[in-house]
Amino acid sequence: MDKFEYFSGIPEVGIVPRAPHAGPLLRHVYEQELGRGGFAGKVTHTYHLYPPNNWLPDETKTLEGAAWAPHWDSPLRDVGGTHHALGTIEPAVTGDVYRGMARLIANPTVAMNVTAPGASMDYFFEHHGATLVFFIHQGSGTLETLLGPIAYRRGDFLIVPKGLTHRFELGAGPHYYWVYESFTGDPEKAEAVTTGQFLTHSRSDYKFPRSLETRNEAGRFEIVSKVSGSYTRRVHPTHPFDVVGWRGTYLPYRFAVEDVRPVVADRSHVPPSGHTVFILPGCYICVFTVRSAEKEGLWVPFFHKNLDYCETLGYHSGQFFSRGGVFTEGMVSVHPVGLPHGPHPTALKALLDGKRPERFEEVGIMADFANPAQISDFALGISRPDYMKTWSGYVSDPRFQHSPTRLGEVQAAAESVADVRDVLRPKGSEGEAGSL
Ligand SMILES: [Fe+2]
Repeated sequence: MDKFEYFSGIPEVGIVPRAPHAGPLLRHVYEQELGRGGFAGKVTHTYHLYPPNNWLPDETKTLEGAAWAPHWDSPLRDVGGTHHALGTIEPAVTGDVYRGMARLIANPTVAMNVTAPGASMDYFFEHHGATLVFFIHQGSGTLETLLGPIAYRRGDFLIVPKGLTHRFELGAGPHYYWVYESFTGDPEKAEAVTTGQFLTHSRSDYKFPRSLETRNEAGRFEIVSKVSGSYTRRVHPTHPFDVVGWRGTYLPYRFAVEDVRPVVADRSHVPPSGHTVFILPGCYICVFTVRSAEKEGLWVPFFHKNLDYCETLGYHSGQFFSRGGVFTEGMVSVHPVGLPHGPHPTALKALLDGKRPERFEEVGIMADFANPAQISDFALGISRPDYMKTWSGYVSDPRFQHSPTRLGEVQAAAESVADVRDVLRPKGSEGEAGSL
């Protein structure tokens, strides 16, 4: 045994040959390759007790998608120039993670869905068209995969690579997940050259399967696959988790939102991009988490028009102060490309009145979708009416209404604060601007 083999850098578990596609072990186990990029990209090899395509020859059938998962492929419409506040969905009494899936927003490369499963799966699932990014808003359980189980709980992201055979075993209590499908690539860790690889999180925060529970069982094992709007069921006579070993870097993992260590700034406002955790083709996912409020910078969101992305924000926990109490946990806001938004009037008044909180006790998951993004009929069905009216304080509150003296007041204010400088500034910079 080469004692330095441990440092090869490619994880391996259980019984594997010395190298892929090589060695006498391959006459005793069956090798399967899960490969991206036409087998030139990320890859993992699994070694099976039985041939992976030992399906029963007469039992493969196409499922009627509208009956099997009625809302997953909900028709898409243009978002248009209206903001949406999506209410929560009812828990599925009998539906599982996938049969209860409902599409909310999608562009050509990414879709956002919601599911509130009420039952564990009595089948296995393979998404042949997308890598899945789950966010567990509520619930706990075990993601059982070909490569071993991953326990999860509220506040976790779960990444399920495209094509990986898996099922969800639900823990007790209610469940509520947001699910992002990435059709053309896997989520990549976001990091900037200026802040390095440990902000806003580290790769060491990713938790991969840690045990392999090989199942040598006979029976009828159903695997449902999905690609685009097509669902197919096949039946195998042996348990799909018959893997005795695996090697590779194309893996499922868990990432706890608790491990996001946000960038904060005392003297300025960190833009949403500073909170990005994952980058997908055509989408980025940000986490706004518990953090201290800016001391001398703008501590509410600036008014903005996002000119290339449709913004979604899932409200996970907290009071969401900047949204003026409009949202409760589990709701999702949809802010279309180009349409201005920002702090709600109550939040802006608190800023103007100097009522700065010490901390933001809130967690939100933002996923922004590159244009052209569309909204589903299902989402429109749970869209709360009158969300556009929640900014009405800007036209009804005298503080924000037209005043003939407004220009003069601003000019006077500008003059009075012209020489005000940050309290948090370098020593020795007390002189007037330009006198240093
Ligand atoms: Fe926004």
